Amino acid sequence: MFTFVPLLLLPLVFGYDWGGYVYEEDLLYDHFPGDFKWGCATAAYQIEGAWDEDGKGVSIWDNFVRIPGNIIDGTTGDVACDSYHKYKEDVQLMANMGLKSYRFSIAWTRILPNGIGERNQAGIDYYKNLIAELKANNIEPAVTLYHWDLPQALEDMGGWLNDSVADWFEEYARVCFEEFGDEVKLWITLNEPHETTIQGYGTGTMAPGKHGLGTLVYIASTNLIRAHAYAYRAYHADFANQNGQVGITLNVGWAEPMDPTNETHIEAAETNIQFNLGWFAHAIYKNGKYPDVMRQKIDEKSYLQGLPESRLPQFTEEDSLIIEGAHDFLGINFYSSNLVYPEISDIEDISYYADQDLAAPQSEDWYGSGSSWLKVTPFGIRRILNWAAKEYGDVDIYITENGFSDRQGNIDDLQRIYYYKHYLNQMLKAIVLDGVSVKGYYAWSLMDNMEWAMGYTEKFGMHAVNMSSPDRERTPKESSKWYGRLIAENGYVESVSPCF
Ligand SMILES: *[C@@H]1O[C@H](CO)[C@@H](O)[C@H](O)[C@H]1NC(C)=O
Ligand SMILES: *[C@@H]1O[C@H](CO)[C@@H](O)[C@H](O)[C@H]1NC(C)=O
Ligand SMILES: *[C@@H]1O[C@H](CO)[C@@H](O)[C@H](O)[C@H]1NC(C)=O
Repeated sequence: MFTFVPLLLLPLVFGYDWGGYVYEEDLLYDHFPGDFKWGCATAAYQIEGAWDEDGKGVSIWDNFVRIPGNIIDGTTGDVACDSYHKYKEDVQLMANMGLKSYRFSIAWTRILPNGIGERNQAGIDYYKNLIAELKANNIEPAVTLYHWDLPQALEDMGGWLNDSVADWFEEYARVCFEEFGDEVKLWITLNEPHETTIQGYGTGTMAPGKHGLGTLVYIASTNLIRAHAYAYRAYHADFANQNGQVGITLNVGWAEPMDPTNETHIEAAETNIQFNLGWFAHAIYKNGKYPDVMRQKIDEKSYLQGLPESRLPQFTEEDSLIIEGAHDFLGINFYSSNLVYPEISDIEDISYYADQDLAAPQSEDWYGSGSSWLKVTPFGIRRILNWAAKEYGDVDIYITENGFSDRQGNIDDLQRIYYYKHYLNQMLKAIVLDGVSVKGYYAWSLMDNMEWAMGYTEKFGMHAVNMSSPDRERTPKESSKWYGRLIAENGYVESVSPCF
């Protein structure tokens, strides 16, 4: 059942103070909070390799990469950076930069090869050894439970489309809390559920490669949010004595109104952020429900499309209560921005994008990168931090990913330094000038790695990895040195280096 609400009733909520941006602002010379957590991030499938070693089960990515055409350069993550064998070297790279924290993900199939049921001790030992190595180097682990590598055994039962997945994920999360919770105090349940569902169940560009951009994506999103909440509640019910924190990592681009003086552009930009960040954050950080604008638009379109019910499911009342407030912090992955203006979609177009009724191009004036979607927009990080703080009420925020890609993988990566220098300074302004509670920052990524469907063509690393060598030698890039200096100063100091 669903109720038809006319679009006219759309509430105009302008919490954020919109206004034009300056592309390259003057730097603020100041310091970050004393206990700020500086880190780098990676994901299991992108770096570990050892895809079938020591009892590991098969994940949807192990299969997806083997279907011709799925990966642009025909590669796989079978070996990747070989971090399964080289984790001690990786930890030394981190120690050399002075990292305080390392965000990595656990491969579900190393722990539970079939997704549920029997545990694999060798896989558990790998992560115990990694965590011990980090601790020995005074680096805190920040662990992502799910970074896209669903066990194939669970995909065979419907994966994120099966309501039971929330229970499967809770079981897996409990095993991780039990095995690693004495040492891990920062838990991220899901990484970028927006991409899990849009690319995995919408466009088919990522595993498991399903196509349901206006339909399946909303079923998967509902189960992803439920799964997060079940794991969060399990932790606080049975592992609270471990004294850790549990949150979720959501990706969002900043939406800048194309014309910041035009209210319809401002409204469209707000809608775009609600469809991206709000899609997953609203229920968890506000009220157990999808954002009003999504509910109204998708309900109305579903009705006009002659469907028997809304394509956007409702959470049950019981689940709503479990979901609302299921967070200790908010993780944001931030890379880029768009310029947004309203554009009414064709009602025949059953799609997550059409549901928004807007266009979101990027400016040709913005610096580019090695990735088509990643334009350099430093102002966006300060703006999204302020938007989230206003919308979700001063929640603790971690930037769990932020970074820049190129194609060359050159060692003197000055464009990457430019990116970090200006984005991090905008984050500093959000903290010092705007009072946003940002607790930590994880650069993406520690090293060049398997960039999903883009294979090894897009390089985000602060270290280069020689992918044609069996030893996968790592070489520090200039950006790793710049980052190390920023961490050492814990801020921007005019006299330190011309790079500052
Ligand atoms: C969903 O999972 C349940 C087990 O919890 C299973 O019995 C059922 O067959 C699955 N549904 C599909 C469509 O595979
Ligand atoms: C505001 O934007 C809309 C949509 O782009 C446009 O039709 C309208 O003319 C604009 N209004 C003004 C005052 O510029
Ligand atoms: C990468 O490794 C190969 C094989 O060992 C070697 O021939 C090549 O010179 C290396 N490339 C770089 C940039 O070090």
